[in-house]
Amino acid sequence: MRLSVIGCGYLGAVHAAAMASIGHEVVGIDVDERKIASLSRGEAPFFEPGLQEILSEGIASGRLTFTTDMGAASGASVHFIGVGTPQQQGGYAADLTYVNAAVDALLPHLSEGDIVAGKSTVPVGTAAGLAPRVEATGATLVWNPEFLREGWAVQDTIDPDRLVVGVPAGERGERAAEILREVYHPAGAKGTPFIVTDLATAELVKVSANAFLATKISFINAMAEIAEATGADVTQLADAIGHDARIGRRFLGAGIGFGGGCLPKDIRAFAARAEELGRGESVGFLREVDAINLRRRERAVDLVVDALGGSAYGKKVTVLGAAFKPHSDDIRDSPALDVAVRLHGLGAAVTVTDPAAIENASRVHPQLTYVTDRDEALQSADAVIVVTEWDEYRREMSPVDAGSLVAGKIIVDGRNCLDAGAWRDAGWEYYGMGRP
Ligand code: UDX
Repeated sequence: MRLSVIGCGYLGAVHAAAMASIGHEVVGIDVDERKIASLSRGEAPFFEPGLQEILSEGIASGRLTFTTDMGAASGASVHFIGVGTPQQQGGYAADLTYVNAAVDALLPHLSEGDIVAGKSTVPVGTAAGLAPRVEATGATLVWNPEFLREGWAVQDTIDPDRLVVGVPAGERGERAAEILREVYHPAGAKGTPFIVTDLATAELVKVSANAFLATKISFINAMAEIAEATGADVTQLADAIGHDARIGRRFLGAGIGFGGGCLPKDIRAFAARAEELGRGESVGFLREVDAINLRRRERAVDLVVDALGGSAYGKKVTVLGAAFKPHSDDIRDSPALDVAVRLHGLGAAVTVTDPAAIENASRVHPQLTYVTDRDEALQSADAVIVVTEWDEYRREMSPVDAGSLVAGKIIVDGRNCLDAGAWRDAGWEYYGMGRP
């Protein structure tokens, strides 16, 4: 099939390349000339395992092209909208400028029978608002939310755990759902659940999934706060409750909390939308979820300060990690970088290292010192804090070797990812999050 993908960021670039890899002819369209130039050369503009390969293959096969010209969308039968919906400046609601602009720019290039498939995460009701404009061209608007995780984006796109398509009522919607099934044929062949809903439900599935995940993380972080007041160990607690299949251990990782381009802004936008709908109280708990999450960053900073005897001023602190999670160079709303910036604000001499995110981090926070080599970053540190659980720190860093590099053997494990016993045995003062 011929597809267009409008918006070539984390979502769109991966979607375009993944769709080409399953046999479609795909054009990726974005207004950012640099991004398009990089993608056209077959170079992934961000770090995402597996993307480079499918990008190069797609371009070499001739099935995948990128352009800034929206006119290239004509001739495609399905047009995916994958532009960003960031948090509004000065507010919590989602900024729909890019979605509106993408749809407006696409309208003149639509033909009778085309499908416009929104993938961006939008406030419920957005699709219903856009539909008349799309339908006036003879095309049909559907909403097909994307659940990909950064770091696993290629795999999640090609082999998702479910596909959700919100369609309009009636025959028009049924036909649109059939076309989307055809687009995602390999998943269909594998028996991946394909859930057809109305537009509002599809929009809500996405935000409620993210709200649930954020709530799960904040729940365990709230338990970490209680553990800290009682001497209990939140990691054992998570293991124990996680054995209950109804609860499950995943996303019960207590630490400095969630960040990234999705969970924080999505729960805020959801709360803002619920207020508009007169149902603010229904998701009022999301404000607590957000507050708990932000408190954990502060807690990590306090642990460092306390371990340093009450002040970080003039102390050398090495921050291991900058990305909001491992296997990503994304620093959007990164708790890791926030912790580094807060320590810097307290007068610490902060050195940050990260296997992938230094370039992005140094652009946004040039006031911090960045070092590529982990061991060099550890050199003569008074305290070390792990804030992104990369294997380079979690598995590959020996407490004995690291101990020979630092000035003070203080380690704060902001992700509860280290073997506390091994670090203590090597003479370190070890502090976890919600652990004695
Ligand atoms: C998330 C959703 O998982 C995905 O389905 C959606 O499409 C986009 O938003 P992503 O932002 O890539 O994906 O990251 P995710 O893996 O969900 O992690 C989010 C944050 O939560 C990270 O900062 C991570 O470190 C943190 N986290 C995750 C925890 O603090 N504890 C956990 O147990 C799990």
